[in-house]
This record gives sequence, C-alpha cells and structure tokens, in this order.
Amino acid sequence: MEMKTILITGGAGFIGSHLIRLFVNKYPDYKIVNLDKLTYAGNLANLKDVENAPNYEFVKADIVDAEQLFEVFDKYQPDAVIHLAAESHVDRSIANPNEFIFTNIVGTANLLNAARKLWGENTDGKRFYHVSTDEVYGSLGETGFFLEDTAYDPRSPYSASKASSDHLVRAYAHTFKLPIVVSNCSNNYGSYQFPEKLIPLFINNIRNKKALPVYGKGENIRDWLWVEDHARAIDVIFHEGRNLETYNIGGHNEWTNIDLIKLMCKVMDRKLGRAEGDSEKLITYVKDRAGHDMRYAIDSTKLQKELGWVPSLQFEEGIEKTIDWYLENEAWMENITSGDYEKYYEQQYKER
Ligand code: NAD
Ligand code: TYD
Repeated sequence: MEMKTILITGGAGFIGSHLIRLFVNKYPDYKIVNLDKLTYAGNLANLKDVENAPNYEFVKADIVDAEQLFEVFDKYQPDAVIHLAAESHVDRSIANPNEFIFTNIVGTANLLNAARKLWGENTDGKRFYHVSTDEVYGSLGETGFFLEDTAYDPRSPYSASKASSDHLVRAYAHTFKLPIVVSNCSNNYGSYQFPEKLIPLFINNIRNKKALPVYGKGENIRDWLWVEDHARAIDVIFHEGRNLETYNIGGHNEWTNIDLIKLMCKVMDRKLGRAEGDSEKLITYVKDRAGHDMRYAIDSTKLQKELGWVPSLQFEEGIEKTIDWYLENEAWMENITSGDYEKYYEQQYKER
C-alpha cells in the first residue's frame, strides 16, 4: 500500500512541533514532511525525539518562495497539507508588519497555488487544512463569544494578515474547488513556546528574577488552551471535519492577564522554594500595546458536538505541567534566549 504523504508547514515552531510529534507517533502509515524556513521561531530541537523516525522528513524551505514550493510539491507529491507556518507574534507585527504580509498572505497564496497545480481537478482524498487564530474575529466586550460565523474584524497587522490568508483559502475553495478546512483557535500554552509570548516569557523572567512587563492595567482577557489539546483538535478535524467547514477551537478558559500572572507567580514561588509573594514584586505595569485587543473568548460547541473533541486538561493542571517543563528544560530556554533574543528584548521593552 502506498503511504499517504502529509506536508505540514511550520512544523519546527511551537504548535507545529506538537502536531508533528502526534502525527509521527500515531500514524506510522503516513509520511510526514515538515516544511519550515527555521526563522527565529523555528527550532529543530523541538523535534529531537522524532527526528529519526522512518516516517518523518524535514525540508528547509520558505513559503514565500513560490519556485521552491513547486519543487517541494513536485518531489513529495503530498496528498494533504496542514498549514501552520506563519509569523505569529502580535508585537513583532506592530514593529515590522511587512514580514507578516509576506509570510502569512503571500506564503499562503503560494501554498494554495502549489496544491492546486499538483492536484488539478483530481482532488479525491486530498485536503488543504489551514490553521488560523481567533484573533481574526477582533475584540470582544465583557460578554459574548466568537462563533464560526462571527464577522471578521482583525485589528492588528498579525490578525489582519491571518484574516487575509483565511479569505484566500476559502476563495480557492469557492473558485477552484480546492478541498479545504479551516480552524480558528484561541491562545495556546505549553512546552516549546518561544519566550516572546506571555506565558514562557514570564516563566523565564520569574525564574531569573527579572521585571514582569504587564501591558496597560493587565485587564485584557485571553482564552487559554493547552497546545496538545489544539494538536488533538487538528487531528480530529483533519480526519473527520467536513469539507469547506470552519471549526473554532477553545477550552472556555478565560483569564485576565493579571490574574494569570499572579497565578504563575504563586505556583513558581512554591516550586522554587521562594516566600509566597516574592515573585509578584516583579510585576511592572508598562505602556500598553498599540491597539491592544480587550478580550478573546471562543465558543467551540460545533467542534465538541460534531466531532466529539473536548479539552483534556484543566488550566490549573496545565499551567503546573507547563511551568515544570520550562524549569526542567533550562538548556532549551538558554539556547534560544542567547544571541538575537537579547536584541529583540531590548528593542521591544526599552520604550515601555
Ligand atoms: P511559531 O511562531 O511558534 O512557529 C511558526 C513556524 O513557522 C516556525 O517554525 C517558523 O520557522 C515557520 N515559518 C515562519 N515563516 C516561514 C516561512 N516564510 N516559510 C516557512 N516556514 C516559516 O507559531 P505557532 O504559535 O506555533 O503558531 C502556528 C500557527 O498557529 C500559526 O499559523 C498561528 O497563526 C496559528 N495559531 C497560533 C496560536 C498561538 O496561541 N500560538 C493560536 C491560534 C492559532
Ligand atoms: P501574547 O502571548 O503576545 O498573545 P496575543 O497577543 O496573541 O494574545 O499576549 C497575551 C496577552 O498578554 C496579551 O493581552 C498581551 C499581554 N502581554 C503582556 O502584558 N506583557 C508581555 O510582555 C506580553 C508578551 C504580552
């Protein structure tokens, strides 16, 4: 029997590496090709445990380079694409929007063209799965949730570029009959996340007794999902989701930033043998993020009812596990926080 080939883009990043691990281990009959440019956010050390698996292969390529993509599609002839490669950090999109336009919009268009060219009219058994974010829906007030049919209202260069890519994917389905599925997920947390995002950044700073830069008043709300639950949701949607559909993914787990930060401080004081209240003293209120979205909250009823997915971890348990992982993997953190990270940190936080 011929092996099914799945091309996963952005597999060396945070969510992509969890997805690759899940697929390589769970589906020995699939050949998993990980296409990644290895930007600052891509790290092959995230995949050490699967790098020698017989059903796994890594290809270094840039989705903005259309010719390179055609060559990769020609060589591997993927039956399906799961597209995660993106520039993913809102603050960087404010500092330098163009990278987001190139990778997230042009890169996605290039991938759609490559899939279309390879598959032509014969799309039986083919699937283009686009992984997106709840940030495309904009910002909520105190009540309400994002549903699959909530109107798009992106407000940062990051979310606007992701919204654009979502529209392109749906347009290719409508116009060219490309078999697609899209999911929009809330904020993820867990192991292997680059320490520019709130949770790993603050874990690292608490450990090093560095200031904890809280934007504005810390009242913004995010809906946090354990990254392995996101990977499980992608698995279910990839295999059982209906063609052309969108599925929202989230765990009904809303936290104000300040409550979340205080919880992290408390857990880490306990784990590091510090006096209770020690780490909270590191909290520093800094200038707010420009255009800072107030609240994100996802309604994932459709996914839960239609495909039976439910989050496996309660947040209190997930955050303990996550903190343990970062404390046990200091070398991983030190490796990525040397060199360019210092420059990024200086630049990003000096004016706040
Ligand atoms: P990440 O920044 O950790 O990883 C992105 C990966 O894409 C990296 O490995 C990077 O090297 C690669 N990449 C970047 N530009 C590329 C290019 N031009 N060509 C090829 N590879 C390139 O991101 P993440 O947090 O793992 O997010 C993955 C996807 O999930 C993104 O599409 C993001 O929009 C979406 N998403 C993320 C979250 C979240 O909370 N992190 C939530 C919902 C959706
Ligand atoms: P982040 O992890 O960047 O995710 P997103 O902006 O995509 O939701 O930020 C999560 C929340 O934490 C967001 O409201 C901004 C806030 N934040 C801080 O207060 N300080 C920080 O240093 C960072 C990185 C984020």
